Order: sequence, then structure tokens, then C-alpha cells
Amino acid sequence: MGADRVGPVAAAFRERTGRDPEGVWAAPGRVNLIGEHTDYNDGFVLPAAIDRLVLVAAGRRAGGRLRLWSLQAEPPADLELAGIGPGTVGGWAAYPAGVAWALGQAGVELGGADLVVDGDVPAGSGLSSSAALECATATALADLGGADLDRADLAGLARRAENEVVGVPSGVMDQMVSMLGRAGHALFLDTRSLGAEQVPLPLEAAGLCLVVIDTRAGHRLVDGAYADRRAACQAAAAVLGVPALRDATPALLERYATALGDPGLRRARHVVTENARVLAAVELLRAGDLDRLGPLLAASHASLRDDYEVSSPELDTAVEAAVAAGAVGARMTGAGFGGSAIALVETALAGRVADRARDAFAAAGFGPPQVTAVVPSDGARRLA
Ligand code: GLA
Repeated sequence: MGADRVGPVAAAFRERTGRDPEGVWAAPGRVNLIGEHTDYNDGFVLPAAIDRLVLVAAGRRAGGRLRLWSLQAEPPADLELAGIGPGTVGGWAAYPAGVAWALGQAGVELGGADLVVDGDVPAGSGLSSSAALECATATALADLGGADLDRADLAGLARRAENEVVGVPSGVMDQMVSMLGRAGHALFLDTRSLGAEQVPLPLEAAGLCLVVIDTRAGHRLVDGAYADRRAACQAAAAVLGVPALRDATPALLERYATALGDPGLRRARHVVTENARVLAAVELLRAGDLDRLGPLLAASHASLRDDYEVSSPELDTAVEAAVAAGAVGARMTGAGFGGSAIALVETALAGRVADRARDAFAAAGFGPPQVTAVVPSDGARRLA
């Protein structure tokens, strides 16, 4: 999806509002190569924006109301801007409405707007359709409001919308990469300093591709398991006497093993070892050794499965099938509890990985996975 979708979403805007949109903006979903459940521990992440987008056709409108339509979700919403705040909007509209609220909190005067949303980031797949929706909306509304905010500011406001209006206590990884992603690159982000480095990910030149295996076993972040993990990490940091698990070391964990207990020690160990794996992965990418990422991806998945306990039978099956079919490496991506796995695969083997995954799902009695290749792509932008 991309430029070819501008016409249809603009037409849908005209149909609903009786006028032309002032522009069309877009923001991508993401995969995370490595660095899972580290972003709310002030740690390191290495995601990439992908070629799946949420598009927003938008125009200003007097009268202080925000009208929202989605070509994928129901129902539309017609909200009084001044009345939007934490706990006031439910369903899909909470994401764009939350962004309008966060922009208002940052002093951006909107006056009123109409938005029509279209997209091909599958919802509930762990590919950050919510961050894509937030960031496309933030880019659109910031432009329309004449706001002087940079991309990291907008990512912060999008995250604020998710945390405070949608009510999911996510970290900032998804919004940052949806705003800052660059084609052919992964984003190495220090979530404490927000220092970001574009690390080349020349998949095509290396004869590799990035395959997403969407288990179709929907994940629900609002369910509480995500918040539980977050709380466990905060509790562990308090036991260790550090501001965040980012500051912990393997030696410190060993020293406080009894006080941390189980599962506290395992939760903390995942974060500490995962941060180290991100740094090691960045070193490999800087050296152009993409084909040596396999062991880090495998260790990340095992840690998420055994120590952090956020994998699922479907995700484990997807990862095992991809590796058995000859993938360089594979792991679950995103929050887990369902969602998608990624596999780094020699392009010639991509078909085999897809077949193996489908066969393994059928043999295990799971519904068929959706297998697609994704391409590291640019972040949020104005399309028209
Ligand atoms: C979700 C959250 C992110 C991050 C990941 C897990 O995608 O939105 O902030 O915590 O889970 O790495």
C-alpha cells in the first residue's frame, strides 16, 4: 500500500464530508528485529518500519468537533474535541482521538477536523497497527495545526495517546520507529536517551528477506499480561536498587537472586540479557554480518519463551518451522501473547519457510498462519 491508495482514501473523504481533504498522510507498522520488552526498562531496541501503512486523509473544520471514519473499522465517531481525555473514548477511535488530545495538551490548537483512515497493517498481529494509526494521525494533525514539533516529539505525543487515552502502558519503541524509520535500515534506539542511529539493513544485497509469520492468534495488550510484566520489571529494579533494569548487570542479578525470587529473577534476566543481545546485533549489522544474526535471534526467542513467558504455542511452532526450513534465524516479534514471528531467510528459501510454517500449523491443529515478506521502509510522511 502507498501512493496507489491516496486516490481511494481521498475519494472516501469526499464522499463522507462533501469536500476535498487538505492532504493525505501515512505512517508504517513495524517489526522488531531484537530488543523485546526492553523499551519500558530504559533499554535498547532494534526495530524497522515496514511497507505496511496506515493512511489518513484529513481536513480542518470549524466547530470544535473531531469526526473520524475508518475504512476497516466501525463505528465512525463524532466527538467534541474539548471533551476528549483519558477514559472518554473507546474502540478504534480512541487512538486518533487520543492523539488529538495529546496535541492539545502540547498546545496545538486544532479547532476541529475530519479524518478518514485506511490501511493495510493487520490489526492484532503484533505489527503495531496502533502506532501506525497514532503516528499517521499525529503527522496529519500537526501539519494541519501548523505545529512546530519534530518527529521524536510527535512519537512522544502518540505514545502519550496510547498510554493515557487508550490505556495501554506501552513503551516508546513502536511510535519512534513509525515516525523515524528509514528504507533499508533498522533503527537502533536507546529508549533512555532517545538517541537513535539508522543502522543499514541491506537485505537484498545480502540475498536475504524478512518473512513475517502472523499466527492469527490475536493478541490483546489491554488484557493485563503486558502491564503485569511491566510491573514485575519495576519491582525487580526496586529490589536491585537501580532506576531501571537497564542499569542491572548479570552479576547484580546473581547477588540478589534470592530476593528477586521466581519469576522475578527470570523476568529481570530476560531484560538484562536482551539488552546485551541488541548491542551484539547492532555490532553485527555495522560489520555487515547479517547472516550471523541467527544465534542472537534464537537466544532472544528462548528468553522470551522461558524467562519472560510471553510466547505462545503458535509462535514457538512458527519459529521452529522457520529454522527447520533453513532460516538464518527466527523469533517472536512485538509484545507476544500471540501476534507474529519474524524469520530472516535466504530469499531462495522463503517459499519453503512459508510451506513449513503452514504444514506445522496444520499438524498442530492451529488455524493457517498468514506468511508475507516485509521490506524495511520509511517512517511517517505526507503522501499528498
Ligand atoms: C509492544 C509495545 C512496545 C514494546 C513491545 C515489546 O509493541 O507497544 O512499547 O514494549 O510491545 O517489546
